[in-house]
Amino acid sequence: MERIVFLGAPGAGKGTQASRLAAHRRLPHLSTGELLRGAVRDGTPLGREADGHMRAGRLVPDALVLGILKERLAAPDAREGFVLDGYPRNLAQAETLASVTPLEHVLSFEIPEPLLTARLTGRRHCPECGRVYNLLTLPPRAPGVCDVDGTPLARRTDDTPEAVGTRLAVYAAETAPLLRYYEARGLLRSVDAVGAPEAVFARILDRLRLPAVPTPSAQDL
Ligand code: AP5
Repeated sequence: MERIVFLGAPGAGKGTQASRLAAHRRLPHLSTGELLRGAVRDGTPLGREADGHMRAGRLVPDALVLGILKERLAAPDAREGFVLDGYPRNLAQAETLASVTPLEHVLSFEIPEPLLTARLTGRRHCPECGRVYNLLTLPPRAPGVCDVDGTPLARRTDDTPEAVGTRLAVYAAETAPLLRYYEARGLLRSVDAVGAPEAVFARILDRLRLPAVPTPSAQDL
């Protein structure tokens, strides 16, 4: 069983690497951020409540996030394991998660803060297929449009300088204490998240003691 949590500051590369690892291990990539953004797009009651918190860079209230996470964890594809990205984000969520499912690994992404800001303000995504780009490190072939389907690229509503500042502060105050929580439980593995995505992925496989087989990213499939 591989039940893996990715822990790291906003922009550390959790989503990029979770999608790679999930494709590589044939596991579902569960992202609470993506689930919440889906609810916002669909205009559900949860999405309407979450939207303001997310735009401001604050955490969405625990009870709301727990509802969608539990539903996703109960889906048949998550029975054999998962790569969970974005949850838990505070001690209460960590305790709740422990009561819902055991974990095998918690991977912590280590990266200096100035790099995070640059990655987040440069991030763009395709609203049609979801592919993620970066103006500095992973630009599209033609400026401003998706390589796959030509759709104009968009910026996440929480990648503004103000929301990024709040998200980093929330991470330091509420999420970073989880490093000690998981270290005390023998689950924490740290990975240097600086460098090309391929190099970071190789380090992740190494930290999880998985064979270093070259694979395409989920976005290339
Ligand atoms: P969420 O979607 O989880 O956002 P986040 O944690 O802030 O993380 P990001 O998605 O911004 O960054 P990432 O680490 O995934 O980096 P990425 O791979 O995209 O949450 C959003 C919001 O939802 C929260 O603020 C909160 O409001 C709410 N929420 C979610 N979960 C919640 C919970 N449990 N409780 C309460 N509220 C919750 O990469 C970033 C950029 O860098 C990309 O452009 C990418 O191309 C680039 N990049 C990635 N890797 C590299 C590399 N190695 N080198 C160069 N560039 C790279």
